[in-house]
Parts: sequence; C-alpha cells; structure tokens
Amino acid sequence: MSTNQLHSLLPVPSGQLQIPASAFTPEESGDSLESPSSVRRSYPLDTKNRIPIGLGNSQILLSMVIPTYNESNNVQLLIDRLSQLLDEAIPGAYELIVVDDNSPDRTWEIATALMPEYPQLRVMRRTEERGLSTAVVRGWQVARGEVLGVIDADLQHPPELLLKLWGEIARGGDLAVASRNVEGGGVSDWSPIRRFLSRGAQTLGLIILPEVIGRVSDPMSGYFMVRRSCIAGQTLSPLGYKILIEVIARGRVPWIGEVGYVFQERQAGESKVTAKQYVDYLRHLIRLRLSLGPIARLFRFGLVGFSGVFVDMAVFYLLSDPTALDLPLTRSKIIASEFAIINNFLWNDFWTFADISSHQPGMRHRLERLLKFNVICLAGLIINVLLLNFLFNVFGINRYVANLIAIAAVTLWNFWLNLKLSWRVTDVN
Ligand code: GDD
Ligand code: MN
Repeated sequence: MSTNQLHSLLPVPSGQLQIPASAFTPEESGDSLESPSSVRRSYPLDTKNRIPIGLGNSQILLSMVIPTYNESNNVQLLIDRLSQLLDEAIPGAYELIVVDDNSPDRTWEIATALMPEYPQLRVMRRTEERGLSTAVVRGWQVARGEVLGVIDADLQHPPELLLKLWGEIARGGDLAVASRNVEGGGVSDWSPIRRFLSRGAQTLGLIILPEVIGRVSDPMSGYFMVRRSCIAGQTLSPLGYKILIEVIARGRVPWIGEVGYVFQERQAGESKVTAKQYVDYLRHLIRLRLSLGPIARLFRFGLVGFSGVFVDMAVFYLLSDPTALDLPLTRSKIIASEFAIINNFLWNDFWTFADISSHQPGMRHRLERLLKFNVICLAGLIINVLLLNFLFNVFGINRYVANLIAIAAVTLWNFWLNLKLSWRVTDVN
C-alpha cells in the first residue's frame, strides 16, 4: 500500500459518541486526500429541486456511512451503485464513508484502493473498537453532510431506495427509514425462526420501550438517514446492531418518514448476526428504559426504593425478631427505616438524580439534600408506621406483608415530594 493511500485513511475519532453540530472539515484532521476547495470550486450545485427544506449551505448534503466487516466481495459493487445514483441526484454533494473494523479479509484496503476512482469515497479503518452501531456513529462523527445515513455493505439493503429516503428528507422529514413492515416492504426467504425472532424482538421492544419502538414500523431497520441537527450534541451509547433505536430515543425527530423495501438475500459473505446481538438488543432496551425521561427517573427511584426494602427488612429482622435482638417493634422499625433512608438517599444522590446533584456539589449541599430527603421520608415513615400498626393490630395481617404494603403506599409520596423539594429538578433545567 503506497504511503499516499495510507495517509488517505480517515482519522478515527475517540471518546464520547457525540455528533458535532457542524460538519467535520478535513483541515481539522490534516487529511490531504481531497482538498475541500477543489470540491467547492469545481462544481456549482444545480440542485434546485434536490436541496431538502431547511438544510444549511454546506457543500456536502448527504453522508452515507457503510459499516463493513469482511465485505471484500460486496464493497466495490455497492460503492459503484451508490455513486452512480448520487452522481445523478446530488452530484458532488454527497460522500460515502466506509467504516471497517480491521476486517481479516482487508475490506478497508479494497475500499481505499477505490478512492481515486470515486472522489466522494472516504475510508476509516478502526483497529481498537468493534461493533456495527459504534462504527456508524464514528463515521457520522467525521461526516461533513447535513444529513447522516447508514446502509449495509452486503446489498441486502437495495441502493435504489436511497433516493426515496432522500425524498422523505426533501419533503421536510427529520428521519427517513427503510421499512420491511410497510406497504411494499418484506423480507425475501427468511426462515420462520428468523421471522419469529425479528417479530419477537419488536414486541419485546414495544413492551419495554413503547414510546420509542412504537414510533416506527421497522425499529430493527439498519437502513435510514437523519438530519444532523436532530442528533447533534446528544451522547449516543448504542449496543450491538440497533443504531436506529438509539437515534429515535436520544434524538429530536418529530417527523419520521418510512419507505417500504424488500430485504434481499445476501449474495456474498456471511451475516455477522449471532445470539450476542439478541442479548445486546435486550441490554440496549433496558439501558434506554433506565435513562429516558421522567419515567426512567421514577424507574430508578423505584429500584433504589426496592433496595431500601431489603435494608429495612434485614435491619428490622436483626433488631426485632425474637430469635435476634428482640427489641420493641416500633423502635426497631424506626431504626431500620433510618438505615433504609440513608441507603436510598445515597443511591438516589449518586444515581437517580446524579444529573442534578452534580449541579449542587459539596458536602454542605449533600447534607442539605439528605436532611430534606429524611424529613420527607420521615413523614412517609410516620404514615408507614401508622399503616403497619393499623394493618398488624387491627386486621391481624402478617407483620412482613403489612410492612410491604406500608412501604409501597409511601414510595410514590416520597418520589413526588423529593422530586419537587430535595433535588428541585426545576432549578437545574
Ligand atoms: N464496522 C463494522 N463492525 N461493521 C459490521 C460489524 C462490525 O462489528 N458487524 C457487521 N457489520 C456490517 C456488515 O459488514 C454489514 O455491512 C452490516 O454491518 C450488516 O451486517 P449483517 O451481519 O449483514 O447484518 P444482517 O443482514 O443480519 O442484519 C442487518 O439488517 C437488519 C435489517 O435491516 C442489520 O442492518 C441489522 O441491523 C438490521 O436489523
Ligand atoms: Mn446483511
């Protein structure tokens, strides 16, 4: 490989997976492959009907990222077909970014060798990181386009559909998704198992993350394009294959357009999907569930409350059980609750409300919050003790069942009051 070709590889970004608000310019990387001025100077764009609504005046309008791993038999054909299409539609105003994870079949070398023939082609070779969705985000991080897209390299996603996706953006869409589950969509000959797994995965997503998965008919799609402004500045943390879910969950995409397509059979090479991808998908759903919106914060508060139940019960047992210290019920209950309150406070301060407490640093602020949290929980504790005694002494309900009911009744009360008083979310936003 000649030194010039070597130097033409794109720099691999590191650190957070965050998309810059403005397009990446080669000057920043000292990349000498294609001088931006030549693109600007040599080709005025006549795209009256082709510049989508609301796009800036960047020269590069569309950046398509092509994640590759062992696609040496597919990459040339794909690049050729995409270039033909885009040279026709938005000449000089697009770029293709191959992001290869150091494929053993040297796909990155084949792609790099194609660059002289395809001036819009850029190649990144990652040696430290691996994974489809992070490859896509790294590609978007060095992209210069106002619209960021992704397409698989194995021609299972029909390149021709790209213009229809572009059309959705041109009409004002924020996100345009190729879907197998709308009119004109489908899969070629998938085994019943794979159909079941795909539909099952979607249903699971609808249960765990309805507000995200429910927004599109094919949340598993790996073929789409999104306006940079919709995801710029958001820290993405995808897991495994499902980058689209991450974009919808963390981005601001009010207008989503969908275009039907038939997922083709792979002509060359192997699918890299393994059981790991399904586990990653589940982990991804849970990670998003725990980090999205007020529901997530209540979810975390609830989990912390749950841990407090164990602390409460363990200390309550040690103090009050006849076989242990056999201390009086109410005294044992108050001490046990205080242990649980301190446990819950620490978890809430370092996790549930971490984004807020980090804005109020220092021990003094922390003690203030602990005091407020304690007062609010104490009020809850009083209700808790009254309810426990009422259920135990009046209705004769088992002491542990009565204790659980009392704790559940108080959790929502505690969450709402602490949200409003101890961590004062409104102050920060
Ligand atoms: N850089 C990089 N790193 N690329 C990868 C990696 C990786 O670790 N793993 C896979 N790829 C590339 C492949 O080379 C291919 O271009 C693309 O990602 C998709 O991989 P496949 O293994 O062919 O996936 P699939 O066909 O089973 O599933 C695809 O289609 C589904 C339906 O749209 C993926 O796009 C799925 O995300 C999607 O759900
Ligand atoms: Mn594939």
